[in-house]
Amino acid sequence: MCGIVGAVAQRDVSPVLLEGLKRLEYRGYDSAGLAVTNHDNQLQRIRVQGKVNELHKEHEASPLSGGTGIAHTRWATHGKPNVSNAHPHICRDQVALVHNGIIENHEQLREQQSASGFEFKSETDTEVVVNAVYEALQSNPDLLHAVFDTTKQLHGAYALGVINSADPERLIAAKNGSPLVIGIGIGEYFIASDVFALLPVTQQFIFLEDGDIADITRDKLTIYNSELEIVDRPLNVSELNADVADKAGYRHYMLKEIFSQPNAIAESLENRVIDGQVITNEFGQDADSIFSQVKSVKIAACGTSYHAGLIAAYWMEEIAKIPCHVEIASEYRYRKSVVTDDTLFVSISQSGETADTLAALQLAKQSGFLSTLAICNVGESSLTRESDLVFLTHAGPEIGVASTKAFTTQLVALFLMVIAIAKHNNLSTEDENTFVKQLESLPGRVNQLLHHKEEIETMAKDFADKHHALFLGRGSFLPIAMEGALKLKEISYIHAEAYAAGELKHGPLALVDDDMPVVAVAPNNNLLEKLKSNLQEVKARGGKLYLFADKESDVESTEGVYVINLNVVYDFMAPILHTIPLQLLAYYVAVIKGADIDQPRNLAKSVTVE
Ligand code: F6R
Repeated sequence: MCGIVGAVAQRDVSPVLLEGLKRLEYRGYDSAGLAVTNHDNQLQRIRVQGKVNELHKEHEASPLSGGTGIAHTRWATHGKPNVSNAHPHICRDQVALVHNGIIENHEQLREQQSASGFEFKSETDTEVVVNAVYEALQSNPDLLHAVFDTTKQLHGAYALGVINSADPERLIAAKNGSPLVIGIGIGEYFIASDVFALLPVTQQFIFLEDGDIADITRDKLTIYNSELEIVDRPLNVSELNADVADKAGYRHYMLKEIFSQPNAIAESLENRVIDGQVITNEFGQDADSIFSQVKSVKIAACGTSYHAGLIAAYWMEEIAKIPCHVEIASEYRYRKSVVTDDTLFVSISQSGETADTLAALQLAKQSGFLSTLAICNVGESSLTRESDLVFLTHAGPEIGVASTKAFTTQLVALFLMVIAIAKHNNLSTEDENTFVKQLESLPGRVNQLLHHKEEIETMAKDFADKHHALFLGRGSFLPIAMEGALKLKEISYIHAEAYAAGELKHGPLALVDDDMPVVAVAPNNNLLEKLKSNLQEVKARGGKLYLFADKESDVESTEGVYVINLNVVYDFMAPILHTIPLQLLAYYVAVIKGADIDQPRNLAKSVTVE
């Protein structure tokens, strides 16, 4: 999604802005731009369609220089990804503005502004905002008030950075629904969509809250709430350092992140299990008392995080014997559902900024749930700030758009949650100890699975010329098949669908022929024999099977059946383990196809719009 960087400093801010944009690339975008007020107090701007590297080249050819500036990576929503739609937008050479979010009433504002003589140069929803600021400045030349008045006209989500060549050492930032952080330097201030953008220049941050407007000059920061009252927002010191966003010798962030899973899982378990027991307090101080009242669980999330929720439901019902219902957040938020006051609402999100998941949480908070719990990878995110209980996965920053280590650590967090709740529902200490041992065995077992890399790379060659693929699984491995299909489609652009293997003959079998690879997850569990029968149905129709089987599943490669026997012994951790080969399969298929793995087309890392 769109990324914002801005700065007010004594030095030339262009290099800070360009570096910030580079560090926001992982969020996904299709055009980029920056605007700086130069030493003659004139606005200068460059914009490109495409990558930040292109912007760098343009900047090298005709550098901008000045102490106040804003920059942006745009992920197109309203209007094509081209130069005229790229931000910053400028009104009458005086006001420049960058925006992340969606202005829902932009059409109405556009009509009003056209009637009062504004000419539009883009198709974006953003241009009405810069025009509105300019218009407000005509009656009161104070930029803070102009932005404040403008925000009162806007419906929708926004993070804004605004500069004014008539007031050249000032930057106004405003937030409502889209993330925005202020970085504090020495005699200089910055704004950005996330802290990564600013780590080379500061470790100190203030997170704006919805409705906040910040008035920023080189030596002063004042934050106002939606009533224009001065407010204090806490200072956070980040422990991340600037090189977290480095590939550490791997060809892609995604590969680095796949290989960092043993470590990410170990970090996510550290201090959360001690002496064979789950430390419930890690979910929050009131977790024990809340978990003791839970009679059912509702989970809402999107994409990969939704798949994590689906697996948790199997664990919750089998281990804790508590009903668990999982919903896609974008559906849940618009549905009238029945809520009981002994139900725990759980949201799952890597970024903690996904607009649909946040909206689902906000709805849940008004709906009479027992309590809300967020499972998230970003500490100071909107989701964690708005939830009663929080469990942070310690996966570290995930840069590749396709989620890998965030997913497996979410599963670890969810398994811990299931045990913590089950303890109040007759889980024996002995069983708890066994489950904790299984969890603790994960880093080592994931590490062993990564050794299948070469075999999977060879298998991947069979997929490179295919246009479609089917993924099959049963029980808690169905969501793993869904996740495998999602990974393949998002980074290799091969159309992939997942089905419960038992559903095959109810429709999808019609698709099977010798051009349709069928990938199946075959753990050595009570459904293995059933799965084998489903696979025979594929084989009989000439379909080519690709099986990821446990060591003891007793399946061998034969004509039309390509088996990789994984070093997996079946237990509750098996869904997490079976994820790894599917991640590697998607990765190597995408490598062979030459796809842009870390920034797949049309996708964004942090989906902050609806
Ligand atoms: C897929 C992927 C997405 C995200 C989804 C939710 O690889 O990463 O499907 O899982 O956009 O994002 P978060 O977890 O940040 O809420």
